[in-house]
Order: sequence, then structure tokens, then C-alpha cells
Amino acid sequence: MPLTLRVPAALQIQPLFPVALGQVQLRPDPLELAEQLQALHVLRGDADGNPEPGCAWTGDLNGVWQLHRHPTFAPLIATLSGHACRYLEQLGFDRRRVALHLQRCWPVLSEPGQVVGRHHHPNAHLSAVYYLNGDGSGRSGCLRLWPSRQVNELVPGLGVGHGGPLTPTAWSLPWLDVAPRAGLLLLFPSCLDHAVLPNEDPDDLRCSLSIDFVLTAPPCPEGQAPPEYLAPHPGHWQTITEDGVQPA
Ligand SMILES: [Fe+2]
Repeated sequence: MPLTLRVPAALQIQPLFPVALGQVQLRPDPLELAEQLQALHVLRGDADGNPEPGCAWTGDLNGVWQLHRHPTFAPLIATLSGHACRYLEQLGFDRRRVALHLQRCWPVLSEPGQVVGRHHHPNAHLSAVYYLNGDGSGRSGCLRLWPSRQVNELVPGLGVGHGGPLTPTAWSLPWLDVAPRAGLLLLFPSCLDHAVLPNEDPDDLRCSLSIDFVLTAPPCPEGQAPPEYLAPHPGHWQTITEDGVQPA
């Protein structure tokens, strides 16, 4: 059904095709939070960053990618996953017709000055970030999100500034920065490019958890076929060994 636009006498611009950034401010229990921060220090061990110079320590590159199976984090991750379900429902998904899978969950710890470079998560569909600390000022390093396309700048590249003729407004922002705050959960499409800006708080270690979710079809009853627009449920997949045979 076509969208009926209200047409005023004066020019009015209407936002179309919004990107869905989910936000929930949770209230962490101080004791549980202290326990989680302590556990992250232990998991990081003696390391203080990824091999790439200036890069924060990220669990996915250091063998810590299943925090959802860690007893200190599992209850929290279950709560966060519940919000991912609400996010899908608000986007219009019928939860009976899609299965949501938690694929990977890892910590990101930024020492002062450390960053995470611009990237996206091509192996996932929905991504989440949960902050264990941060005061909302952005001092410890904002999450920067980039739009997939900047159609409102009309001339590609004008939205980035550099003294050009396009004044930054909400219609042509080249990116959006979100300040960490303890207990804040963010949800966004995994295809969105994002980065973590430098931690400029000399006294604090920036701590967050990342989660990647994947959508598939639900398990398929015997004799029925999954819809072609979603991957079948992984319970129906078959692993092929290096020799090209099905494992026993
Ligand atoms: Fe990421």
C-alpha cells in the first residue's frame, strides 16, 4: 500500500528509510558488575591490546568469544538476548517464522588511547554492544556508526565537511557517535560500519561486550521445506569433512 504523505504549503522534508538503532538503558547490579569487570581482567590476562598497534583488546581475536557460556556473564547475556527479540518484533519480524541464534559474544577492553578501527560484521545479521562502564560523556571512546549510503549529500563526499558548501545537519550527518554509559545496550544491523574512538580517559579501562546474532528459518517439521528466503535452521545442516565425506 503506498505511503500517504501529508503535503504542506511550505517545503517540508520527511525522513525516509530510517536505520533501526535499538537502545535500552539497563540498571546493572553493582556487585554483579564488579564481578564481571574482575572476570574480564582475568580473561585478558597479561595482554593489553590486539597485535595491531593502538588497537583495543578484543576477545574474538584472543580466544574469548563465548561469554554466553561463561557463568559470570550468562544471565546478563540472556537478558540482552531478550532485548534482541524485542528489537526484531519492533522491526516487524514474526518471531514464530524466524529463529534467532547467538553466534558469538566477546569483550572489548580499551586502554587509554586505544581504538577499534572501522569495520562491520559480515558473518552476522544483528549486532549488539553492552557497556559495563562509561559516564555518557563519550570521554572513554564513543561508538561511531556510519550510514551505508549518504544519499542526502547529493554530491558524494560533500557530507564529510572539509570546508565544503554543505553545512552539517541531521539530513547529511556523515556518522553518528554514541557515548558509552554503564548498562546501555545498543542493537543495530550487522552490516553497518562502525568503530570505537580513542579512549581519552587516562584513568579508566573502557569495557564493553559485543554480541553477534544470526537469523535462520525455524526448525522444519518432517516433510516440510523451509522458506527459500532464509537459511535453513542449522539443525538441518550437514558438515562435510576435509575428505569430502559426512562425519559418522
Ligand atoms: Fe564490531
